Amino acid sequence: MKVWIDGRIVDGEDARIPVTDHGFLYGDGVFEGMRVYRRKLFRLDDHLARLEAAARALDLRIPGGLPGVRQVVLATARAFDRDEAYLRLVISRGSGALGVDPTTCPSPRLVCLADEIRLYPEDKLLAGISLVTSSWRRPSPDVLDPRVKSLNYLNNALAKLEARQRGADEALLLNAAGHIAEASVANLFVVRDGVLLTPPATDGALEGITRRSILELAGRDGLPAFERTLGRFDLFAAEEAFLTGSGARIVPVGSLDGRPIGTGSRPVMERLAKAFERLTEEAGTPIDAVDEGASATIGG
Ligand SMILES: Cc1ncc(COP(=O)(O)O)c(C=O)c1O
Repeated sequence: MKVWIDGRIVDGEDARIPVTDHGFLYGDGVFEGMRVYRRKLFRLDDHLARLEAAARALDLRIPGGLPGVRQVVLATARAFDRDEAYLRLVISRGSGALGVDPTTCPSPRLVCLADEIRLYPEDKLLAGISLVTSSWRRPSPDVLDPRVKSLNYLNNALAKLEARQRGADEALLLNAAGHIAEASVANLFVVRDGVLLTPPATDGALEGITRRSILELAGRDGLPAFERTLGRFDLFAAEEAFLTGSGARIVPVGSLDGRPIGTGSRPVMERLAKAFERLTEEAGTPIDAVDEGASATIGG
C-alpha cells in the first residue's frame, strides 16, 4: 500500500494520523473510492465533483483545492505503480479539541491510499453473491443524507456485519418506507421485462459513479433504463439483478434471503459489463502522464 499523507507518499505501515483527528473521533469527513483499470483512473473528475459536493454539504474545506487533490490522487496511483488499483481519498475534519465541535479543527486533513481491494470471493463473481435483507434501515436524508459519502459508515458496516454473520455475502438495505436503497457499499440494478431499473438516490442510495456509467451505457445501447422505487418484490420477480460500485465493480446477485434470484442467465448484465470494460479505457485518466509540478504545492 502507498499513502499520501502530510505532503508526501509513504508505505502503508508508515502512515499515521493523530488520535485527535475528528475523522477518527467522530466520523467527521468525506471520502471517495476510485479504481485504476489498466493504468487509467476511471472517471476521476466525476469522483472529484462528488467529493466537492459532499465537502460543501459538511462545510468542509478541501485542502489545496480540487486541482491539487487531483494531482495527489494521480501521484499516489503512480507511486503504487500497478496496472489495477483501488484509491481511497479521505478528507477528515482534522485535529481538534475533544468534543464534537468542528470549529475547533482549523486544518482539514487530506490522505490518499492506493492498494488492492477484493470485496467478494472470486468464484462468487461468476455464480452470483448472496444477499440478505438487513434489519438495519438506511437513514433518511433528514438524518444523514446518503448522497454524502461521509466517514460515518456505521449503518453500512453494521448491515455488512449482520449479513456476514448470517452467512451471506452482502446486505440489502431498505429505507424507512421499506423500499430498496442499495447494498452496503454498492448500488443495485434489476432487470424486469427487459427494462433496467435502479432505485433513485432519494430512496437512500448513493449517486454511484459506476451506477451512472451503467445508466449511460444502457442509453447508448438502446436498453430502456430508469430510476424507480423498488421493493423486494422486484428482486424476487427479476430476470437479473446485479450490484455496481468502484470497489465491487459489476457483481451478479445470485440469491436474496436464501431464494434464487433471476433465471440464471444474465445477458443484460453481461452486455453492460463488456461495454463498461470498454468505457474504462475511454473514460480513464492515464496515471503516468501528469504534471509533476502541481503535486509539490499540496501540504496534505
Ligand atoms: C454506500 C455506497 N453506495 C454505492 C457505492 C457505489 O458508488 P460508486 O460507483 O461511485 O463507487 C458506494 C461506493 O463504492 C458506496 O459507498
